[in-house]
Amino acid sequence: MPSNQPIAIFDSGVGGLTVLDQILHRLPAEEFVYFGDTARVPYGSKSSRTIIRFAVEDCRFLMRFDPKMIVVACNTASSFALDTLSAEFDIPVIGVVEPGAVAAVAATRTRRVGVIATQTTVNSGSYPRTIARLDAKVEVFQKAAPLLVPMVEEGRPPDDPVVPLILESYLADLKQAGVDVLVLGCTHYPLLREAIAKVMGPTVTLVDSAHQTAAVVHQTLTKSDLCRGDSQPAGKQHFWCSDNPELFAKIGRRFLSTPIDEVHHADPEIFFEVERL
Ligand code: DGL
Repeated sequence: MPSNQPIAIFDSGVGGLTVLDQILHRLPAEEFVYFGDTARVPYGSKSSRTIIRFAVEDCRFLMRFDPKMIVVACNTASSFALDTLSAEFDIPVIGVVEPGAVAAVAATRTRRVGVIATQTTVNSGSYPRTIARLDAKVEVFQKAAPLLVPMVEEGRPPDDPVVPLILESYLADLKQAGVDVLVLGCTHYPLLREAIAKVMGPTVTLVDSAHQTAAVVHQTLTKSDLCRGDSQPAGKQHFWCSDNPELFAKIGRRFLSTPIDEVHHADPEIFFEVERL
């Protein structure tokens, strides 16, 4: 039966808004609750144990809104926490790694795929593992690009001289490896898409998992007959973060094509109380 329950979506911070943006384009009638764990970002340099704990806590918080689905709009959390979340919560849990891997395998002609991501996503081997499952003949070349997240958070425009300089240094090995597809394996990187495309050149296809994740969300809801229905008026988006709502709104506006009117603060006292439930 069509469901008016919201879709819950979380990230370590604002980056997951790139995923929300794509889902919104596809499913404008849906209602969304977004949680950005801005008090504890970045996840990309934490241990797997901490990332799993944070992801479970984030979802427990979101379960208060009675969602029909959880979208893990963070590559780092998707790399480590997906199995734990799927076991703990009895609603569909969709990550971003598998959709990105599917899109990469579909796009490559030379079977040489590059992945840029946070250090922990690279260390987890989640992309090479998932791609190998889909096509064992695809070679995957990974590169951790830890400076890109703070660069995006800081709002450096693509024409800032520092941007191509840093990208050139991160992407040199992947260019050398002759990849024909580059996966933007972190939710922040789509904001640097133009600059990355310039460095990689016109023969390399950039894969952004947000687009494919939106397709998977749509399919999953359709299969279970849980879509809100296109005849419904546009759904609302509710934004929560664990630190500084003003900053979340200011930075978040660059990630999302619809306005962010109001951001609620998940007070740490309430937030961490969830941990003890
Ligand atoms: N959202 C994270 C990801 O997609 C990047 C930011 C972080 O390190 O927490 O991996």
